[in-house]
Amino acid sequence: MKRAIIIGATSGIGEELARQMVADGWTVGVTGRRLERLEALEAAHPGKIVPARMDVTDFEVATRGLTDLIELLGGCDMIVLSSGIGLFNKPLDVGPELQTIDVNVTGFTHLATAAMRHFAEAGAGHLVIISSIASHRGDGAAPAYNASKAYQARYAEGLRKWAARRAPQVKVTDVRPGFVDTDIVQGKVFWLQPVDKATRQIWTGIKAGRSTVTVTKRWRVMAHLMRLLPEKLWHRL
Ligand SMILES: NC(=O)c1ccc[n+]([C@@H]2O[C@H](COP(=O)([O-])OP(=O)(O)OC[C@H]3O[C@@H](n4cnc5c(N)ncnc54)[C@H](OP(=O)(O)O)[C@@H]3O)[C@@H](O)[C@H]2O)c1
Repeated sequence: MKRAIIIGATSGIGEELARQMVADGWTVGVTGRRLERLEALEAAHPGKIVPARMDVTDFEVATRGLTDLIELLGGCDMIVLSSGIGLFNKPLDVGPELQTIDVNVTGFTHLATAAMRHFAEAGAGHLVIISSIASHRGDGAAPAYNASKAYQARYAEGLRKWAARRAPQVKVTDVRPGFVDTDIVQGKVFWLQPVDKATRQIWTGIKAGRSTVTVTKRWRVMAHLMRLLPEKLWHRL
């Protein structure tokens, strides 16, 4: 029996990934602040979903919560870090920037390090990080969001190097979605992908053990263009 934990599975990509993993025979521990949504997921998949309330900004409690959930599942083959926030901040107030750092950087780092230490000790495992296509460039609408996603992407690379030397059986996958139709998306965006379609491609890439998974296909092309675009042109978009 394969066991996974998804951090941030109350909605969006995390919730859909939990459904697709259960359909593939996995047992999935799911976390987030909205316990009622986790319990609804459990009710829809009795015996296959294990819910646990977690606020990733309660750093030490969240880290202990991850360890407890691994124990409750009797081990864990995969941990997916999908929790994230993105706050529009055109006035450039410091509050939303720091809130974003708490969730996407500090909370993320507490859980990523705990997950990797667990897998290294167990001798195998797969950490999946949901960063973003936003990791490629800075943006004025939510500067901390793009910066936090660049942090996560580089962090994933660093963890792969850490594992290559110490625990070669431990895999790290960095998933970089383009726009996906979930609660995090604010305002009008283009090429919005349905969450089930994007998550199917994400799950296929994870199962293939890829280091980086950019979804969907058209966003792969866009990622390439984003990297090439001179900053002056990037400012006009
Ligand atoms: N949708 C997109 O276009 C897109 C594109 C690129 C990358 N992503 C990334 O994909 C990941 C999932 O986002 P989504 O699109 O699925 O949006 P979403 O539906 O808003 O999901 C965000 C998840 O993060 C959890 N979360 C937020 N703050 C938390 C906290 N303090 N403690 C614990 N959990 C917290 C939420 O749970 P609670 O609120 O219940 O705590 C929820 O389960 C994020 O990292 C996001 O940056 C999304």
